[in-house]
Amino acid sequence: MKTLTDTAFRVISFLPPEQARSIALYGTRFVKQTNVVDPTRLNQNLWSLLFANPIGLAAGFDKNASAVGNLSKMGFGFIEIGSITKRARGGNSQRPRMFRLKEDLAIINRLGLPNDGLESIERRLRRHFNKATRSANNAIQTIRTVLGANIAPDPDSLHDDGLCREEMISCFKALQPIVDYITINASCPNTKKPVRETYKVGKIAELIEVMRKAEPGKRRIPLLVKISPDLMQTDYLGFADFAKSGGCDGIIVGNTTLERYPSLRSPERNEQGGLSGKPLSDTINDILKDIYKHTDGKVKLIGCGGVFSAQDAMKRILNGASLVQIYTGLAYKGPRLVDQIRFDFSTLLRQYKLESIESAVGKAVS
Ligand SMILES: Cc1cc2nc3c(=O)[nH]c(=O)nc-3n(C[C@H](O)[C@H](O)[C@H](O)COP(=O)(O)O)c2cc1C
Repeated sequence: MKTLTDTAFRVISFLPPEQARSIALYGTRFVKQTNVVDPTRLNQNLWSLLFANPIGLAAGFDKNASAVGNLSKMGFGFIEIGSITKRARGGNSQRPRMFRLKEDLAIINRLGLPNDGLESIERRLRRHFNKATRSANNAIQTIRTVLGANIAPDPDSLHDDGLCREEMISCFKALQPIVDYITINASCPNTKKPVRETYKVGKIAELIEVMRKAEPGKRRIPLLVKISPDLMQTDYLGFADFAKSGGCDGIIVGNTTLERYPSLRSPERNEQGGLSGKPLSDTINDILKDIYKHTDGKVKLIGCGGVFSAQDAMKRILNGASLVQIYTGLAYKGPRLVDQIRFDFSTLLRQYKLESIESAVGKAVS
């Protein structure tokens, strides 16, 4: 049955993509609490955090943490806000800067990390948690959606190593006491010089060392690194070795790509920017599989890119991902995709004769 949300979603999908994203974000306040309950076979405990299901919202949708409460009603196991930079940014001034590639179920964006900046996002998060704690005291508490924050180097500071590091440390120190995990965005392609060229494994290692020293209190927050699918094999396996040796707690594979696959058919395929969505699927599966195999499954992986169904998500998991994130799939399929995937997972597990998501991780890697 079509709901008001489905109809609204169809209308939004005819608007220019950047406007559609803002309206969709605003529209999350009308989303009803999902009534799909996650069976325990979808639960996982990672980094001492309980994930009710493995489906997460990828960074870039709720950049400013303006809809965390409403998004969690949609049934996500986790939500990643950001990317957040220390100073507020308008992003690239040239418009339009986001394109739908309908024939390819893809998006190209060159937003350039627009966000409200650390100070206002931190304030917004603190307000959100104050409210959430108050309502939790008066209501039956359900499993809380895990919340991650994605922090990124400011493209305008990339020329100055010291400044860049100082800004990243400020973001880390401010967000560490509030969120459940932090992701370092080592992969935004939409800057004059792609972040991945500056943020190679050596620099990330130095940065994380300083972050760990600056970590306030006793809590050691899980620190993940989000890599680019455009890295050479030696570079992404470098990150894998770094993670395996305990340098970081996991890897997100990955961000948008600068690659233009010959299979792309949409007229917008040659627009500049990072490509996301369906065309990324094989690349992400290959990298996940390679890292899982190289590290004997010792590194926790999040598969991000091209997930449009439970089958897609399960493929990332069988190739080594413990968790999965979505962005473009949501833009094409609408908010009901999350419930659909959670629901279909149980059928898929039965088909594969697997007991749980946890037991499915890496099963296709020999
Ligand atoms: C419009 C748009 C904005 C994005 N902004 C960010 C961002 O700020 N930080 C980040 O780490 N990834 C960002 N991403 C990348 C997504 O988080 C994700 O890695 C990528 O889109 C692949 O997943 P998908 O195929 O499910 O979209 C953005 C993606 C899109 C489409």
